[in-house]
Amino acid sequence: MTSETATNKSRVIIFDTTLRDGEQSPGATMTFEEKLEVADLLDALGVDVIEAGFPIASEGDFEAVSAIAKRVKRASVAGLARAAYKDIDRCAEAVRQAVRPRIHTFISTSPLHMKYKLQKEPDEVLAMVSAQVARARNHVADVEWSAEDGTRTEMDFLCRCVEAAIKAGATTINIPDTVGYTVPDEYERIFRTVIERVPNSDKAIFSVHCHNDLGLAVANTLAGLNGGARQIECTINGIGERAGNAALEEVAMALHTRADVMPYTNNIDTTMLTRASRLVSAVTSFPVQYNKAIVGRNAFAHESGIHQDGMLKNAQTYEIMTPESVGVSKTSLVMGKHSGRAAFRSKLKEMGYELGDNALEDAFKRFKDLADRKKIVYDEDIEALADDEIGHTGERIRVEALTVIAGTMGPQTATLTLEIDGKSVTKQATGNGPIDAIFNAIHALAPHTATLEHFQVHAVTEGTDAQAEVSVRLAEDGKTVNAKGADPDTLVAAARAYIAALNKLMVKRKKTKPEAMGQVG
Ligand code: KIV
Ligand code: ZN
Repeated sequence: MTSETATNKSRVIIFDTTLRDGEQSPGATMTFEEKLEVADLLDALGVDVIEAGFPIASEGDFEAVSAIAKRVKRASVAGLARAAYKDIDRCAEAVRQAVRPRIHTFISTSPLHMKYKLQKEPDEVLAMVSAQVARARNHVADVEWSAEDGTRTEMDFLCRCVEAAIKAGATTINIPDTVGYTVPDEYERIFRTVIERVPNSDKAIFSVHCHNDLGLAVANTLAGLNGGARQIECTINGIGERAGNAALEEVAMALHTRADVMPYTNNIDTTMLTRASRLVSAVTSFPVQYNKAIVGRNAFAHESGIHQDGMLKNAQTYEIMTPESVGVSKTSLVMGKHSGRAAFRSKLKEMGYELGDNALEDAFKRFKDLADRKKIVYDEDIEALADDEIGHTGERIRVEALTVIAGTMGPQTATLTLEIDGKSVTKQATGNGPIDAIFNAIHALAPHTATLEHFQVHAVTEGTDAQAEVSVRLAEDGKTVNAKGADPDTLVAAARAYIAALNKLMVKRKKTKPEAMGQVG
């Protein structure tokens, strides 16, 4: 306990157990090097206590706790120990070199655990509490004692154990909700009652430790503070036994965001939360669910048009925290089928496009159509669309509709409707393949002498639902023009590209041969 935490009644100690309770979750094992990396980040993040492992559990755990104790500059380093002298002595050896070493020792106190797990009478357990804490105090000044399954322990017995632990020298008393069974009101009441009834309770800091079996770990944690606890045990990303522990990032941001109703202070640098989350996810290979509070990839992303519109006017309309406050560079307006005009216009502007009202309206319609067909609309899709739209502004010929029949049973047929100088005209043509059929239809509707010099298709983004971008070069009388067309349908993109090239050709003709401008072909 630092002098600041001892005297400041609103200061909350953040005790991180990612490397102990977190690492205990099935499949979350970390290597020695990964544990050191996580410990360094936790220290930089500002946690007060790093529970580095369970030294008696294995040689590897012992080595990791010792190495972390040696290297961590600021935080206390704790090791876990059962109620056995050999556990406590081994733990003491592991944390010995820490700037602030802590031994965290525990024993079950609930009737169920004492009877079936420990097979001991309550008085035997009580005697062990005093003995184990005293043993730990012989090694270090900072001793935490936990009443395992505390929330299912009889209140009288819990109070007797807590009093004995403090008397034997425990400086922190943890009442864990080991099985994630309690609810906020009850947990708050447990702390209030114990603190009121235990005569020496003012000599220790009380701690919450919540598991998430009912999804209540963070709510219970915060309720424990209201009951008088001033240490929070938690893990990055909420990893831990079964459904996990209270998530550090959620607790920290709840305290940060709602300081008006929870006037507690702590030392966490919230701007490092995202980094910490990513590191723990990477080393454990536990993915972070997309909609996870604070660090999920959707936590600061908006797709719905109404929300995007609100966000563009004032971010506080739909965000209670800034992305920067948790280390995310900015809010992302995900462009999808729910996005509205305002977000689309803002996205184009951000990408450097300024479209006129008509072009914007056209581009927006095409974007909506694309978003209906495609799972993810990438920036490259919007770019292709905007380029396409700019290329088509002021054109005399536009593609209105296209139907193609293709496949093994030729001939391939294209039915094409073009708008030429404001008039719709339709033609059906066949060809040697669908592209040939389309170009023949174009020829029939807009006769011209230009020849096709180059035709290339490429996918704008990855995936089978990617937009196609077709590039076309036409040549006529020594003049060449290049144009592009984009669409999720390669054939439509081809028609658009060819028509764009024809339009360009007409502009070129106008410049060199004004009398030819009147004729489309
Ligand atoms: O959940 C629990 O009870 C624990 C103790 C060892 C503190 O993790
Ligand atoms: Zn636990």
